[in-house]
Amino acid sequence: MAKKEEFTDAIMLLKHDHREVEDLFSKFQKASSQDKKWQLAQQICNELKIHTMIEEEIFYPAFEGKVDDDLYHEAYVEHDGAKVLVNDILASGGEGEFFEAKVTVLCEEVDHHVKEEEKSKDGFFAQARDTDVDLKALRDEMLARKEELMQQLENGGLPPAEMRALSPMPA
Ligand SMILES: [Fe+2]
Ligand SMILES: [Fe+2]
Repeated sequence: MAKKEEFTDAIMLLKHDHREVEDLFSKFQKASSQDKKWQLAQQICNELKIHTMIEEEIFYPAFEGKVDDDLYHEAYVEHDGAKVLVNDILASGGEGEFFEAKVTVLCEEVDHHVKEEEKSKDGFFAQARDTDVDLKALRDEMLARKEELMQQLENGGLPPAEMRALSPMPA
């Protein structure tokens, strides 16, 4: 498990997650067997579930009213868009004509979202750095929550990702 000394602050922790998931997406693109692709897709989806949860529960709310409103709201909508695919991919068991296309489109969506967060001048993280929010305290809170969620994942799995901005999908 990651130690807090590995990350200078909350933003470094989130960027580290971004690099990990990018690495998994590129492994997915290169994988040749269906089993390997399914295993990587599950890993990607679970990492994204945990990452979006720690951002939505802890990181984003700390900056409500402190970063640009449009950017703030779009971040939640982008997360929900990705969650539709995450839940669908995990439920698919890696089967079906559209499996690879779903993972590819998820990768494109995540790529766009990560750019919005990391954009050097006016991205979410750059704006967050310009506030008086304690980024080390947020890091500690997020690491603790991440550890809890990883435990949950090991002990039977995480529930489907919950929408925060989009209406729940009709049953
Ligand atoms: Fe992120
Ligand atoms: Fe995000």
